[in-house]
Amino acid sequence: MTQELTIELTINEKSYQRSIPVRLTLADFLRHELNLTGTHVGCEHGVCGACTVLVDGRTQRACLTLAVQADGSSITTIEGLATGEELGPLQQAFMDQHALQCGFCTPGMLTTLTEFLSENPDPTDAEVRIAISGNLCRCTGYENIVRAALQAARTLRETTPGASTPMQVDALDTDHARAQHARGAQQ
Ligand code: FES
Ligand code: FES
Repeated sequence: MTQELTIELTINEKSYQRSIPVRLTLADFLRHELNLTGTHVGCEHGVCGACTVLVDGRTQRACLTLAVQADGSSITTIEGLATGEELGPLQQAFMDQHALQCGFCTPGMLTTLTEFLSENPDPTDAEVRIAISGNLCRCTGYENIVRAALQAARTLRETTPGASTPMQVDALDTDHARAQHARGAQQ
């Protein structure tokens, strides 16, 4: 008999309560139980980054997370980055800079960059490349993704109160970002 547990969590600012099998992954929960199919599933073993979502503001591989582990959390998926029909700054920048082709990696890129830009609002090209090093794209060659991230950073600095003063990112922060994404790739 499949064991079930009841979980309560918030996804894109909406509350859910569901009884689910304890072995259901967060990725499958989002896609199959809630029809939030913007979260993509590629490798299913923590390498490609396509399934990355934000759990309490931190990136997490949804393919390696059991949905029951997310009980009580606040989750943001790609669907939560827009405001109604209005694209978020990162989404708009990806469109402007042609930063996607098939789009399979895009949800994970956007959630990863959302966390990254919240910590480093004025990144260098090299820092963006480190930030997305745990997200694989088979199509774009990454150049336009980096350009889009830098465009979104500019937009956010211009439009977000308090973000106009760039946060200093020292070697420690860069090491932290590298370690974080390395951890993510191994999860
Ligand atoms: Fe590839 Fe989760 S599906 S990391
Ligand atoms: Fe196709 Fe990145 S746009 S995998």
